[in-house]
Amino acid sequence: MRELTFFMPTRVVFGQDVVKKAGDGLALGRKALIVTGQTSARKSGALDDVLSVLTGDYVLFDRVENNPTGENCLEGAELAKKENCDYIIAIGGGSPLDAAKVMAVLAVNDKKPLELYGGWENQPLPIVAIPTTAGTGSEVTPYAVLTLHEEETKKGLGGPDLFPRVAYLDPKYTASLPRQVTIDTAVDALSHLVEGYLSNRATPASDFVALQGIAVWGATIPALRAGQFTMEDRENLLLASMLGGITIAQTGTTFVHALGYPLTYFHDYPHGRANGVFMASYLEYTNEHAPERVETVLELLDVPSLEAFRELMNELFADFVGKLHVGEERIRAYAEKAAQTRNVTYSRGTPTVDQLTKILKDNIL
Ligand SMILES: [Fe+2]
Repeated sequence: MRELTFFMPTRVVFGQDVVKKAGDGLALGRKALIVTGQTSARKSGALDDVLSVLTGDYVLFDRVENNPTGENCLEGAELAKKENCDYIIAIGGGSPLDAAKVMAVLAVNDKKPLELYGGWENQPLPIVAIPTTAGTGSEVTPYAVLTLHEEETKKGLGGPDLFPRVAYLDPKYTASLPRQVTIDTAVDALSHLVEGYLSNRATPASDFVALQGIAVWGATIPALRAGQFTMEDRENLLLASMLGGITIAQTGTTFVHALGYPLTYFHDYPHGRANGVFMASYLEYTNEHAPERVETVLELLDVPSLEAFRELMNELFADFVGKLHVGEERIRAYAEKAAQTRNVTYSRGTPTVDQLTKILKDNIL
C-alpha cells in the first residue's frame, strides 16, 4: 500500500494587493521585527504596503546580506530580543526570508547559529513571509539556507516549525526585477519543481503540485526568452515559485542544488543561475533512471527534446555560459563535497563522486 505524508501548514494568500487587503490582520502579535535586505523590500513597494496597514509596533532590521551567514541572522535575533518582538514580517527574496527563519529560532533559543543544525527546543517566532522575487518558494518551505564560512559552502537547515505562518504573494512586487534577476530566480523555481518531481522522494501528492507548477512555468518560456514580462507572466512565475516551494517542502532538492552551492560560494553565482548550470545534465542523468518522468517534464514545458532543453538553458544564460574558470582539482573537490550532502541521495540513481565530477566538467570546463 502507498504511504505518504504531505505537510504544508502555511496559509497562502495570493493576488493583487493582498497585503493591503489583509489590513490589521497582517499583524500576528504585538511587536514585529521586520526583516529585509537593503533594496528589494523598498523598491518593490512591499515595505510601504506593510507599513501602510500594520497596526502595533515594529522595529526594522534591513541588513540581511545576500546569502546570509549565521552571524548576520544572530544580529537580527539580538534586535528581536532587545525590542521584545513577538513575531517577524520577512520581506524580500530568498536571503531575507531564510534569514528571518533563522532569526525566529535564535530569538527564542539560546544557541549559536551552527548549533541549529542539531535542532532546537523552543517554538520559533511566527513569521509573515512576503516574497519580492519569484524563485525561492521559501515562503512555503520549512528550510533556511545559510552560508557557512567554516565549511566553505551553503547548507540548508530545516524543521517543521520553520514554515511561515502566513505568506502574502503579490506579483506586482516582482514587476521591477531586472531581466537577468527574473531569469535567475525563475530557474530556481523550475529547479525546485523538476528536482522535486524527479526526486526519489516524490509522492503522488508532491507530483500533483510539481506537475501543475511545471506547466505554469512552461507558459512563461516565451517571455523568459524575450526578456519581457507582462503582469500575467509575473503572476505565473510567482505561482510556479510557490508551487515549487510546496514541492520541495515534501521532497527536498537533489544534486542540482548540491552542485550549485560551490558556484555561489566560490564564484558568486546567484543561486538560481548556479542551479541552471546543471539542470540539463540533471534531466539527462535522470533519463537513465526514470525516462517516463523526464518525458513528462519536457511535454509539460513544451520543449521537444533533451537537446532543446539544454539549448533553452544556454539561451537564458547566454551571457554566462563558458565564463567559469575552475581547475580540475577544484572540480573534484566540489564533487566530493556535494557527494556528502543529503540532496545527492535524493536524486534517482544517486550519483557517485566520479559521476558528479563528470557532470561538473561537462558543464563548466
Ligand atoms: Fe533553490
